[in-house]
Amino acid sequence: MKVSDLTWDPFIYPRANKSQKTITAYVEALGSGAQFPPIKVQRVFNYDDGDRSAIFTLVIDGIHRWFAFQEKGIKAIEVVEWQTTALDYKEHKTALLLESAVCNISHGDRLNTSDKKRTARVIAESDPESKWTESALAEKLGVRQQTVNGWISDIRARQKTNRNSTILRLSRLGWIQEKISDVMGVSQNRISEIIGNTIFGNFDNLIAQGHDMEYIARHFQMDLSLAWALRLTGKKDQEKFKALGWGLRTWDQWSFNECDQRFGEDWPGRIPAQLVAHTLFYYTKPGDLVLDPMAGGGVVPDVCLIFERKCQAFDLATQENRPEIEYHHWNPQKKKWPATKKPDLIFFDPPYFTKKKKAYKEKATRQTPSISSYKKKDYEQFFRAFFLLARENTKQTRMAFLNADWYDFESTPAPLEDPDKSITIFDFHRLLSKTGWRTIRRIETPLSSARMSGNQVQKMQNLQILGTTGRTLLIAKKV
Ligand SMILES: C[S@@+](CC[C@H](N)C(=O)[O-])C[C@H]1O[C@@H](n2cnc3c(N)ncnc32)[C@H](O)[C@@H]1O
Repeated sequence: MKVSDLTWDPFIYPRANKSQKTITAYVEALGSGAQFPPIKVQRVFNYDDGDRSAIFTLVIDGIHRWFAFQEKGIKAIEVVEWQTTALDYKEHKTALLLESAVCNISHGDRLNTSDKKRTARVIAESDPESKWTESALAEKLGVRQQTVNGWISDIRARQKTNRNSTILRLSRLGWIQEKISDVMGVSQNRISEIIGNTIFGNFDNLIAQGHDMEYIARHFQMDLSLAWALRLTGKKDQEKFKALGWGLRTWDQWSFNECDQRFGEDWPGRIPAQLVAHTLFYYTKPGDLVLDPMAGGGVVPDVCLIFERKCQAFDLATQENRPEIEYHHWNPQKKKWPATKKPDLIFFDPPYFTKKKKAYKEKATRQTPSISSYKKKDYEQFFRAFFLLARENTKQTRMAFLNADWYDFESTPAPLEDPDKSITIFDFHRLLSKTGWRTIRRIETPLSSARMSGNQVQKMQNLQILGTTGRTLLIAKKV
């Protein structure tokens, strides 16, 4: 088959980034006359939204071989077809993804754990009826069932969430019945019945019988954060920390190794639920209203739910299963403030300049871009305008503002760092002070450096590159 007639579909081919190292090794092998086995392909239709009947041939196994052939300038490549008839792409998307993953597990540049996790999560998301059991996925992906459980339990719990649980969730976050009724398409009478009558049985009994919270959430068809919220209702904040297994930090260094997978979605730039819980503990009380302007995967609403704070959350990216995150594209020049009530706390976790720019861009549109696509000047301008707008629209509100120093640290040796190419916490402090906010606290909440491989670290050291793991929470008060 002609090399140029093949298509690479990054969704199906589960490797997040293709490996140039492998391609180079293959090119060298081809140069010394090596023979490679055929690559696996699948013909599909309904792939291109323009012409649905057009046939595309997707590579499902052998992407590195294919790239090596291209680099070497070889025009034809031997292929085998997975299924001999062309498939409807939209219908078979996940089956193709899984087949590709399975091929990659057994040979070549094996799939790494995060590729497998992504595959499992994509399949679980597209399979609300749980036709793919955890054990079947584990077998296909060559991992233990428990591992798959850990990867997808939040998705499964959400998929099983029934309408009553969602109504209860929104009500507990402070939504008025009229608004719940609009969003959920259920009459207000029915909503007050649901809120008034929902008795979810005795959680403690189930726990005494040895069931864990995942089981209980599934049993009552609710998401995990609501299950925890119901179980811990009326308890003191400190008791909640204890029940959740979170040590309460007494000093201003909040270092958490990992995000707690139980709360919030797997989202680019997701923050640890513990970080949010500490902010709520120190700067709010039960019943207070928290505004999260850029809520992402929803960890702030989840923690608010458990700690009995009300919450209004917005983002340009919304998700069907999280109606509590409302659509809003912040463009402070337009002066629109979508929150209906004045918050006691704004928990603001915006993109850290261009970090994860690609991931946020995928969720945004050209007309409503993520601020991570802005130039430095516009990014700063955005915050100046946002802080002013927030000041105008709030009462004695505190702002918890999370950000990290941004430098072009991946490629610039420390002696060559250019201050014009960085945005640091000092800049945010300056912007806050100029817009009527006084920073009253600086809390260090560092990111983990464990994600860097030994090789990457060695490279940085050789080049005198100083990495950044700092992340800072500023607490500001209106002047
Ligand atoms: C750092 S993430 C928030 C992560 C979240 N705290 C979590 O733990 O999942 C920043 C979010 O800002 C959103 N965002 C960026 N620019 C925006 C804009 N102009 N209006 C609304 N949302 C925006 C992105 O879609 C992204 O979800």
